[in-house]
Amino acid sequence: MKVSEAVASRMSCRAYLSTPVPESTVRAILDAARRAPSGGNLQPWHVYALGTVPLSRLIAAVRASLPAHPRGEGSEYDVYPRDLVEPYRSRRFKCGEDMYATIGVPREDRLARLLQFARNYEFFGAPVGLFFYVDRRVGPPQWADLGMYMQTVMLLAREQGLHTCAQEAWSVWHRTVDGFVGAPPELMLFAGMALGYRDESAPINTLVTDRAPLEDFARFIGS
Ligand SMILES: Cc1cc2nc3c(=O)[nH]c(=O)nc-3n(C[C@H](O)[C@H](O)[C@H](O)COP(=O)(O)O)c2cc1C
Repeated sequence: MKVSEAVASRMSCRAYLSTPVPESTVRAILDAARRAPSGGNLQPWHVYALGTVPLSRLIAAVRASLPAHPRGEGSEYDVYPRDLVEPYRSRRFKCGEDMYATIGVPREDRLARLLQFARNYEFFGAPVGLFFYVDRRVGPPQWADLGMYMQTVMLLAREQGLHTCAQEAWSVWHRTVDGFVGAPPELMLFAGMALGYRDESAPINTLVTDRAPLEDFARFIGS
């Protein structure tokens, strides 16, 4: 697979087959992604990979806590700025509307939207769940490094015929996840990531998200 094919075919997959992914494949992806760049070569990424059995135990634990804590435990960081300015606000809104449209859920049907959102906490049925942590003693440049590692994982997954979905949604369950994976206190959960084989028949996977045209964000200066 060409890099351009991996980039073009990566999408946020929100429905998976139960087909298992061998641990050796997960290991090979996370290992190859070590070549991701980072400022000063700090490599500030930390990842926990959960296979089907531990994953189902974690999912059951979160499901049991959901009724008492429908909003989770509170995120350690703001997933979005409190006042999201334009054009980001509209993009976020449209992305949500387009996603719910694929499964025929109107804006008024808050319950159906909540239930779909809760699928985050089942890794959308994926057989593998990854948790990405950053050392809380580092700053924004190192968070960007973690993002580079995550994108490298997502592209390498494509090469294996696998799909992914990065999931900041998991940040609100950081206490439960930290305890479950045994993360040391200096690490902060940034995001989860579902990994598995895409369910080709699932309507939600038909979503093709917009992108602003190049002219909106790139300036070419010089000849
Ligand atoms: C760091 C990060 C966190 C994300 N968190 C979630 C999430 O919690 N749940 C979800 O369904 N999608 C999540 N997404 C997916 C984005 O909504 C998606 O990348 C965006 O809408 C563009 O669509 P695409 O990935 O299909 O190209 C996340 C993406 C990134 C990069």
